[in-house]
Amino acid sequence: MSPTKRPGILRMSPPVQKPKGNPVSAIRPAAVVVLAAGEGTRMKSATPKVLHELCGRSLVGHVLSAARELDPENLVVVVGHAREKVGAHLAEIDPDVRTAVQAEQNGTGHAVRIALEELGGSVDGTVVVVCGDTPLLTGETLRGLAATHASDGNAVTVLSAEVPDATGYGRIVRDEDTGAVTEIVEHKDATEAQRAIREINSGVFAFDGQLLADALKKIRTDNSQGEEYLTDVLGILREAGHRVGASVAGDHREIAGINNRVQLSEARRILNDRLLTAAMLAGVTVVDPATTWVDVTVTFEQDAVVHPGTQLHGSTHLGEGAEVGPNSRLKDTRVDAGARVDNTVADGAHVGPQATVGPFAYLRPGTRLGLKAKVGTYVETKNASIGEGTKVPHLSYVGDATIGEYTNIGAASVFVNYDGQEKHHTTVGSHCRTGSDNMFVAPVTIGDGSYTAAGSVITKDVPPGSLAVARGQQRNIEGWVARKRPGSAAAKAAEATARRGESED
Ligand code: UD1
Ligand code: CA
Repeated sequence: MSPTKRPGILRMSPPVQKPKGNPVSAIRPAAVVVLAAGEGTRMKSATPKVLHELCGRSLVGHVLSAARELDPENLVVVVGHAREKVGAHLAEIDPDVRTAVQAEQNGTGHAVRIALEELGGSVDGTVVVVCGDTPLLTGETLRGLAATHASDGNAVTVLSAEVPDATGYGRIVRDEDTGAVTEIVEHKDATEAQRAIREINSGVFAFDGQLLADALKKIRTDNSQGEEYLTDVLGILREAGHRVGASVAGDHREIAGINNRVQLSEARRILNDRLLTAAMLAGVTVVDPATTWVDVTVTFEQDAVVHPGTQLHGSTHLGEGAEVGPNSRLKDTRVDAGARVDNTVADGAHVGPQATVGPFAYLRPGTRLGLKAKVGTYVETKNASIGEGTKVPHLSYVGDATIGEYTNIGAASVFVNYDGQEKHHTTVGSHCRTGSDNMFVAPVTIGDGSYTAAGSVITKDVPPGSLAVARGQQRNIEGWVARKRPGSAAAKAAEATARRGESED
């Protein structure tokens, strides 16, 4: 999948949406049909198979994304098993998708017939059929199939692939003399000789819509599975004298269907590698691709650096020269140019240019760091705006706060935002120096240029330029240890120091 580029920004994969003008129009299909009614029992999951996730998208979401690159007039998903869940998910990720319900899974041919019924029985133009569980299929490959189908003037073109192990797949049977495709035979129905064929049916086809509708009326169920096979359409059209062709996929891994969680993890690895390769070729340093995981929706600018053990999710964006990791997990987080994020978990945060975060920070939703701001070690922030040049260096919680520019928050401070029922806001001005171990009991405002004493519990507003001291007075009770802990190590140490003092006099 080639990244679409904006100046300085690369988007590794488009969201599920219609593409901007490209050479698709000539081969624009009348419909794409996505088959997703099956249960996927081998996933052993309460979640329907096509809703399992890899790289930030559901399996069916990846397929729709590739399908959208064809800019079809209609996009129909055949749903059956868990259709409420699947339907709700489809409505969320691509509201223009139409669904057709296949109550009983009587085979792929039956499924396509139901999709065509949703479109009024038959359609003029090309109908592309894909499976909902092939997330590695690219728009580019689909475009190639549609182009071959159009230029060869075929009634049907199947996307085939040479695979190392063809077990379970339908085999592409070709005429021994001419090499022309004659039929597809399912593994279970194949002879020993046919089972030796390594060219398989990917399950992806381009059809002439009218001929498809006619042929679907003729398919039978006299096969080993007692199902209506879509693959039989090929032989039917061939026998009726129509042109039947195959387009061989360049990379057989692209058409791999996901049936169990081992295949899911293999596909995730392949897709992740594809995304990281695109990023690296566009100028991003990925120190260790083996331990770096990204979603298709993550974007980078040039010279961003990703250190080992880092996961980037959702709409996360790394600006020019931004450096993230090692061991960081960022979701929907924007890291601006030149910022540095180390050993950090962030969700819904915006790290300003040249800001630094971590090691060991937790940025929660609504965190905003200005230019050159710093959130240091063991610091948690939430719904907090931290201004330009402001530092929260150590061991603090900043929740529901606005902090101005060039302020320093002392170590081990807590923005006490919760009274047990409601959250309250704290405002700290610019150029403040707050002492260590402060509690800012919200709602409270610290004026510009103020200082607070270490160990203060600030419950009242501090006027600009003041020093606020809010802690108990210190009292020293001399001789207490000698009276109350006589003979203890402490008493002896104190006594020795007292004697040394006398001898020095
Ligand atoms: C199918 C093909 C086989 C091909 C393989 C590629 C047929 C008869 N066989 O076999 O040639 O090599 O895919 O992976 O087409 N589905 C429905 N409704 C149904 C049946 C299936 O929606 O009634 C959907 C499934 O959810 C799945 C897809 O169609 O997404 C393929 O179905 P599956 O049962 O996995 O077909 P295979 O036996 O793998
Ligand atoms: Ca399958």
